[in-house]
Amino acid sequence: MSPNSLVAADTMTSWEVGTFGLSHLAAVKRPVPRPGPREILVRVAAVSLNYRDKLNAEGVLLPDLKLPYSPASDAVGEVAAIGSEVTRFRPGDRVMTHFITDWIEGPVPPARPVAGDRTTDGTVYGGTLGGPLPGVLSDYILLHEESALAAPPSLSDTEAATLPIAALTAWFALFEVASLKPGTTVVVQGTGGVSLFGLQFAAAAGARVIVTSRDAAKLERAKALGAAAGIDTGRRPEWDKAVLELTGGRGADHILELVGGDNLVRSVRAAASGGRISQIGILAGTEASVPILPLMLKQVVLRGIVVGHRKAFEAMNAAIEATQMKPVIDAVYPFDQVPQAFTHLDRGPFGKIVIKVR
Ligand SMILES: NC(=O)c1ccc[n+]([C@@H]2O[C@H](COP(=O)([O-])OP(=O)(O)OC[C@H]3O[C@@H](n4cnc5c(N)ncnc54)[C@H](OP(=O)(O)O)[C@@H]3O)[C@@H](O)[C@H]2O)c1
Repeated sequence: MSPNSLVAADTMTSWEVGTFGLSHLAAVKRPVPRPGPREILVRVAAVSLNYRDKLNAEGVLLPDLKLPYSPASDAVGEVAAIGSEVTRFRPGDRVMTHFITDWIEGPVPPARPVAGDRTTDGTVYGGTLGGPLPGVLSDYILLHEESALAAPPSLSDTEAATLPIAALTAWFALFEVASLKPGTTVVVQGTGGVSLFGLQFAAAAGARVIVTSRDAAKLERAKALGAAAGIDTGRRPEWDKAVLELTGGRGADHILELVGGDNLVRSVRAAASGGRISQIGILAGTEASVPILPLMLKQVVLRGIVVGHRKAFEAMNAAIEATQMKPVIDAVYPFDQVPQAFTHLDRGPFGKIVIKVR
């Protein structure tokens, strides 16, 4: 073992699908990869699942993904070995993955649902982890040093594993693209990962948060996390009307649109004049027929969000340290129960699903 390496084995376990479909998830043995000059080898401690992992494993989101495919993009672990030109990390550092690997800061990068670019030194850099770039459901993963960052010291491995997509998406929409003001009304939809991070961040910043859910019991749990009100969409499918009632007819200042499909129509109706809709989710579909007149007359900003850049991730981590906020974890599964973790994701989690790799 070289001084730059803490690697304990030659082979590792990796969860993959050889054919699209969650029923094809299987644990396979692979050689532990070696880092290229600007890469770090990370011994994974914990992985969290996102809805896109299911869509990718099923071949829905990126149907041209190369098989076998290892899903997931959110991981925390220890740097086990570094390439000869790595300067950001040392073996033993605790790091997290950064989803849009080459979006460090600045303007939105080009939409790029295709394979990552190769840098001149031959390492893969660019694109998004867990499709089209390789996923993280393995004992060891390779990351370009720029696509990793330090994990917040106040969080355990399972807690920190929840941050890279869900937390950063909510943070980026609320504080990077918009600047949330205390006293404003924020709507978050469903009670999954992005929604509950949105709830916790917005409530901590002094916003009045309204949560929608198909499950009354989950709404009670959301209120315990700081939600001012909950709307049971099973009993009240016209949730936009409920938002107007709860805001004295004014509407919500910022809506995290997590359901997608025609739910966007209701978000437009529920938005306040001068309000904002962050289009994030596609749970109910990728198409919507939007009423233009209320969008236009209320001068609502409709903005697509794709996670965020690393600089925002670092700012979010500093806020998490300052507030000692703890992510909401619905369940932690051992590494030999990855299929069960995906089944839980499919049912609709309250917060995050985490897989403890070691
Ligand atoms: N654009 C981006 O950067 C970005 C980033 C992260 C996630 N996303 C997308 O945002 C959405 C939410 O992601 P997530 O990771 O937070 O999901 P998640 O953790 O799987 O949670 C989804 C929650 O939404 C509710 N839900 C599920 N299916 C629904 C449906 N058909 N209609 C209405 N509500 C439904 C459920 O809550 P209740 O049981 O309480 O109703 C469920 O717990 C997904 O579409 C995901 O792909 C996009």
